[in-house]
Amino acid sequence: MIVLGRDLFSRKLAEELKAEFVEVFHKKFPDGEYYFRISEPDKLKGRKAFVVVRRTMNNLDQNGMIIESLLLADKIKGLEAEKSCLVLPYMPYARQDKEFLKGEVVSVKTLRDMLTEKYDLVLNVTSHDLRKEGWINEKAYNIDATDSIIEFFRKMNFKDPIVIAPDMTASENVERLAKAIGGNTLAVEKKRDYNTGHITSNITKLPNFSGQELIIFDDICSTGGTLYKAIGLTKKAKARKIIAVVIHLLDVYNEKFGKNSVELIENSADEFHATDTIETPLSDISVIGQIGDFLKKNF
Ligand code: R5P
Repeated sequence: MIVLGRDLFSRKLAEELKAEFVEVFHKKFPDGEYYFRISEPDKLKGRKAFVVVRRTMNNLDQNGMIIESLLLADKIKGLEAEKSCLVLPYMPYARQDKEFLKGEVVSVKTLRDMLTEKYDLVLNVTSHDLRKEGWINEKAYNIDATDSIIEFFRKMNFKDPIVIAPDMTASENVERLAKAIGGNTLAVEKKRDYNTGHITSNITKLPNFSGQELIIFDDICSTGGTLYKAIGLTKKAKARKIIAVVIHLLDVYNEKFGKNSVELIENSADEFHATDTIETPLSDISVIGQIGDFLKKNF
């Protein structure tokens, strides 16, 4: 088995799988195009290849991740690997998983079709289309990072914490997290205007949670607006401690606040945690064990 990648995450996954690590070098040409080179191409022949394409804060963007995934697939095939698995901890273009407004392109569907045509398996972590029936099949699989978060939080010994979803889409996972750590939940319903992007919430004031620990859990933080608002609300509820946790933490510029999301939210709660599906300074919950377990059993 060979794990191909260009970061510490891929090296650790190789260790987890007891596989050999082969580095992928990349650079960007002045015109914006990407270049890739597999450092030890001769090692791939007849072996299972796992390609890790992962987003880092200041490195490849979503478009670059797609290009990297497609280009490496063909190269690996040419090098006669036995079979190939693409590990995309953060699935690019997954947010548009439905035609909300007539005529909208459902980007994740096109992406899945393209990638599963080139790889024997495409593995993602908590992608938005996780919920779509029929989209998850023997060539496309999604693992839920809530399990890694539960494992991390179990070691923290909470006493009756309240777990809050700033977005109803996360509520199922919120229920699961709360149950696993002996807490209760409170879901805040958020509505997004699909034309303007403006968000409204059904809750403007929370009950008094004085002395309690509050955990705010969302699947994704992009501009940080949703989390920032939720943390602001919980502060008024007089909680003893406010902990925010997200699966995918993107570092995106927030126009309203004039700063990037990580800078906006990192000091807004008492503690901030994120998984390492994307590399950020706050990514202290690893999904590598979960990915490794799945791959050992299924590929
Ligand atoms: C929505 O479906 C997600 O669960 C997040 O709440 C949302 O994407 C966060 O976006 P932002 O950080 O830009 O408010």
